[in-house]
Formats: sequence, structure tokens, C-alpha cells
Amino acid sequence: MSIKYDSVMPWGRSFKEYRSMFALSEHDLKKRIVGCGDGPSNFNAILTKQRGSIISFDPLYRFSATEIRSRIDKCYPEVLEQTRKNSSKFNWTNIRSVEHLGQVRKTAMEEFLTDYSTGREEGRYVDASLPKIPIGDKEFELALCSHFLFLYSESFSQNFHLQSVEELCRISSEVRIFPLVDLNAKKSRHLEPTLSQLKDGGFDVKVETVPYEFQKGGNQMLRVRNL
Ligand SMILES: C[S@@+](CC[C@H](N)C(=O)[O-])C[C@H]1O[C@@H](n2cnc3c(N)ncnc32)[C@H](O)[C@@H]1O
Repeated sequence: MSIKYDSVMPWGRSFKEYRSMFALSEHDLKKRIVGCGDGPSNFNAILTKQRGSIISFDPLYRFSATEIRSRIDKCYPEVLEQTRKNSSKFNWTNIRSVEHLGQVRKTAMEEFLTDYSTGREEGRYVDASLPKIPIGDKEFELALCSHFLFLYSESFSQNFHLQSVEELCRISSEVRIFPLVDLNAKKSRHLEPTLSQLKDGGFDVKVETVPYEFQKGGNQMLRVRNL
């Protein structure tokens, strides 16, 4: 059986996972950071507590905290069920079981929900969708995109991927994207054409192995810079 969702799931990873999947150093965390598709992750909440600079863009942020909570509650059993049925596609070393996965995600999403209303008032959670982010050129030093591009390769075209990466490079000096596999832990079919078009367009493109691997084989991050 394959993992297949009707829409992009509101599912949030933790600050610790972001640090590991994007190989974020202490120096990186002091940069002006933009997160695209941060959804209900607690990365923004925790980095803000640590006095970091971050704005997250996601179409999810058009909704109130109550509406987001009910969306999370609706998708939660489905994601856990599909993960259980496809458990051989995941590494159960750090996250030990489907139940443990549920706890880790729920903790991160609760931290997000606690921070959300304040963060929205402060302009840290902004409703916007790739491939167009309403921000001037190079406003950020580091753009992060976790578990949206390449992961949902069946739902978005290769052209969407290229335009989105170019847009992230427009608003930020450096872009990191993780993972490079799709929902079924297969290398994204959009990866190679996107890499080659980015190289042709004069971007510096690197695929790097990182110390995070929950989906089997999903331990690579794409780093893109404008030359
Ligand atoms: C699976 S969640 C990942 C959340 C978070 N980045 C993480 O890793 O925990 C994917 C997120 O992508 C967001 N999304 C969907 N379409 C988008 C778009 N066109 N531009 C930016 N984000 C989008 C969804 O709302 C959702 O919050």
C-alpha cells in the first residue's frame, strides 16, 4: 500500500528535528530566517523564545487557532494510520513507534498553537503560498522549506517546484529544502529536472546528507544559493 493524501496535511515537526534536517548551526540560528510551509511546526515558536528572527509563510495561517486545531484533529488519525500501514518505509530509531510519533508531533503542534495568536499579531505567521511570497528581494538570509516541496511531488508539477525554489532564492540569500523524497520515500521525480534547470539558471546547487532520517533514504537536503 502507498501513502496518499487528498491534500497537504497540517502536520508539525519539532525545533529539534528542524535543526537536524537542515543541519542548522548556532550561527545559522542567528540569521534572518524565513520558513515556507512551516504549518503547525513549533520551529517559529521555539526560535522566537531563543530571540531568533523568523517569519513563517503558509496558507494555513489564514485560519484561526481553533480552526487549525480542528484541521489537525481531523488529519491526525489518518496520518498515523497511513504511517502504520507503511511502517517499513520509516526508521524507528529516534521515533520508536507510531504512538511515539503521535506524541512527538502532538507536543510540537501544541507548542505552535499556544504561540500562534501572538505570533500572528506580531507578523511571524503570515498567510501566503508558494510560488509567490509577498516580500521584497533578499529580505532574508536563510529560507527553510520542510516537508512540502518534493515531498508532495504527486500533487504539484515540476514547474511549480522550479518556480517555488526560484521565488525562495529571490527573497533569501540561501535556501535549504528537506526532504528530497516523496511521501513514499522514493526520490522525487521532480528533483533532477529542477536541479538541472536551477544550474542552467546560474544557481549554485548542492545536495547534502544530513543527520536526520525518519523516512528511509530521506536524509538529504538541497542547498541553493544565487551566484
Ligand atoms: C506536511 S506540512 C509540514 C509543516 C512543517 N514544515 C513541518 O515540517 O513540520 C506541509 C505544509 O505546507 C503547507 N502548504 C501547502 N501548500 C502550500 C503552498 N503553496 N505554499 C506554502 N506552503 C504550503 C501546508 O499548509 C502545510 O502546513
